[in-house]
Amino acid sequence: MKTMIKVMLCVGVGMGFSVTASLAQAACSFDLEVGDYLKFSAVDINVEKSCESITVNLTHVGKLPANVMGHNWVLTKTSDIDAVATSGIQAGLAANYVVTGDSRVLAASSVIGGGQSTSFSFPTAGLTEGEDYMFFCSVPGHSYNMRGMFIVAE
Ligand code: CO
Repeated sequence: MKTMIKVMLCVGVGMGFSVTASLAQAACSFDLEVGDYLKFSAVDINVEKSCESITVNLTHVGKLPANVMGHNWVLTKTSDIDAVATSGIQAGLAANYVVTGDSRVLAASSVIGGGQSTSFSFPTAGLTEGEDYMFFCSVPGHSYNMRGMFIVAE
């Protein structure tokens, strides 16, 4: 029996340096920052199936507008990331660089620019423990640098 819901949020600042914080209470919710650069504030995200849903609070702390340096947060299986990123480019900014109804997309936020933020939630029911998932930004040219592992534990 679980006595505590634990989520590890790794915040990377530059290459080779990371801080790991254990958030015992805010276990099913994540605060992520993006800015005028190609990086998420979290390197990896760990969740537990005991969370009925996951909430992501995405904040763009930069100044550049969405059409110049916008970012979003998209979740897919690792094996789908490149194909989803490619088709997302064709979908365009108006569609938040995600093809509407793409079943490979497990969760996706809107694209935000500097000074903006967005919050969204998605259920964990469709996630499988031990599956290889990644989160990434599907804005054109971003997905190779802006990606991280999304790890689901029981
Ligand atoms: Co981006």
